[in-house]
Amino acid sequence: MTAALTLEGLAQQFDGQPVLRGIDLAVAPGEFVALLGASGCGKTTLLRLIAGLDRPQAGRICIDGQDVTALEPAQRRLSMVFQSYALFPHLSVAENIVFGLKARRLPRDEQARRLDHAAALLGLAPLLARKPGQLSGGQRQRVALARAAVSQHPLCLMDEPLSNLDAQLRAEMRVELRRLQQALGLTLVYVTHDQVEAMGMADRIVLLHQGRIAQVGTPIELYERPVSPVVARFIGQPPMNLIRLPGEDGLRGIRPEHITLGQGPHTAVLESAEYHGADRLLSLRLHGQVIKVRHAGREALPLGQPMSLGWPAERECRFPSEDA
Ligand SMILES: Nc1ncnc2c1ncn2[C@@H]1O[C@H](COP(=O)(O)OP(=O)(O)O)[C@@H](O)[C@H]1O
Ligand SMILES: [Mg+2]
Repeated sequence: MTAALTLEGLAQQFDGQPVLRGIDLAVAPGEFVALLGASGCGKTTLLRLIAGLDRPQAGRICIDGQDVTALEPAQRRLSMVFQSYALFPHLSVAENIVFGLKARRLPRDEQARRLDHAAALLGLAPLLARKPGQLSGGQRQRVALARAAVSQHPLCLMDEPLSNLDAQLRAEMRVELRRLQQALGLTLVYVTHDQVEAMGMADRIVLLHQGRIAQVGTPIELYERPVSPVVARFIGQPPMNLIRLPGEDGLRGIRPEHITLGQGPHTAVLESAEYHGADRLLSLRLHGQVIKVRHAGREALPLGQPMSLGWPAERECRFPSEDA
């Protein structure tokens, strides 16, 4: 099967400073790939290269097996949704949705057919005559998505499209976006700094760190088998504990929910406990380091007392060095 998108050795620099280095990636048709990473790690830079808004300093970009590295954005047959939505304020919702189809001179009845379909899919039918200024943030978001949907370009690029919405709407839109992507069979490259979005929606996550790919894998692979301390620290809320044991080189990684109290070879002192309803998040001091433990029990635990703890060996990740 031809990859929907292939990146080979992509590199970019600004003012002599490397911002992206050695980016290799293949995205399958219909796949939802999240580009995840801290602010400033190069996510938007990478998306702009794929879109053709900027040219890479080195490397190659293929869409559906065709080398598009030298092509203009309009020739790449892709759609984009940005954080700002980029809606035209003086046009109606319907006109905004079909704007790109008009520019491509699609027959009117085909435009109308696609508009009806997208409006139904996104619940926009009652709003088609309104102007963007008369819509809520969530509704504007849907219009931007409808515009990507009617383009029927198989590849869609999104840059933090939910970051302007409040928390509840963001949670709803996560579910809706995933549903839409699957209903349309879209190949989606989705930029976010929010691991909850990446973990909850994506088929695969590309974790970027300082302009390089730190790990590519399914959400479960990144969560259960981070390849380096960098990934272990980024994924999970709170992240994986990275423990240095006396007389040992390297770090042992263990998730807060996999540590059991009251038994095991280690002794730690409980420093604080935060009640979270479903569980408690405990901070314990172990060999001079603070570790986090998720504890489901309801009994009160004694602060300042030594207690034993341990974890199953198969849950542990070993990192030979800090930057392994
Ligand atoms: N046009 C530009 N000129 C100079 N530096 C830039 C430009 N665009 C981005 N950068 C720098 O490149 C780095 C990565 O930026 P960006 O890709 O926007 O990060 P992200 O989207 O992951 O937050 C940052 O240090 C940013 O300041
Ligand atoms: Mg960005």
